Amino acid sequence: PLTGTGAIVATAARAGHGVGAFNVIQLEHAQAIIAGAEQAGAPVVLQISENAARYHGALAPIAKASLAEAERATVAVSVHLDHATSTELVREAVDLGFGSVMFDASAKDYEDNLAATADVVARCHAAGCWVEAELGEVGGKDGVHAPGARTDPAEAAAFVAATGVDALAVAVGTSHAMLTRDASLDFDLIAALRAAVPVPLVLHGSSGVADEDLTAAVQHGMTKVNIATHLNHVFTTAVRDALTADMRLVDTRRYLGPARAATAEEVARLLRILNALNAS
Ligand code: G3H
Ligand code: ZN
Repeated sequence: PLTGTGAIVATAARAGHGVGAFNVIQLEHAQAIIAGAEQAGAPVVLQISENAARYHGALAPIAKASLAEAERATVAVSVHLDHATSTELVREAVDLGFGSVMFDASAKDYEDNLAATADVVARCHAAGCWVEAELGEVGGKDGVHAPGARTDPAEAAAFVAATGVDALAVAVGTSHAMLTRDASLDFDLIAALRAAVPVPLVLHGSSGVADEDLTAAVQHGMTKVNIATHLNHVFTTAVRDALTADMRLVDTRRYLGPARAATAEEVARLLRILNALNAS
């Protein structure tokens, strides 16, 4: 059933489990992610980014499809707005029935990030919506590997206290859109952030993190683990294989179907690695 991200993440954080948060671009992504979660018997977060909404020309169509898929799931599934920089889009997501949003003002300096985030948190909380924000910009959104940023634990604690955010995305060595899984995580920093920050921590750019480091990141204190590029890699490889195997293929179901199945398998595998099981 459709569940709030806040409830899924809070339960997992209490148990020391990870939560997989996977990005939806096409309908088949939503279906694959839910099928994988059902296979693993784990709750899951479907997230739709501002960029994905821009790709579709609007948030509502892919959001409504994702919400409908979540409603008919046999495990807890939430629908979350990812990397929103537009407060207008945040309002639209809340109106559509999203239980959570990530407001990303991490490109701004500390004071401006704090002020903009506090404002969004106040509006969202008044509407019963859970908010994730980011401090210490996780790089790579321009496709350039940029793992250098780090979030300071004392600053993170002050930011959470001043804004009232429900979860915090932190920079600990990952970078967005990596095609190789060889990011070097700062586990001591994750532990220090866990000790300093009273809300669940979020790892972005997790496609670049090797299996064993995903497990270690959760053990050191990460809860919500965002993975997008890696699933696209799995999905697109399966499409490519199906098209290459039969040059006469024209029915889109004949290559999107296998890609959806391959992605579901990988989601189930990742959820087991994140120790996301039985967290709902
Ligand atoms: O917000 C989404 C994630 O941070 C995904 O990053 O594409 O590098 O896995 P990724
Ligand atoms: Zn991200």
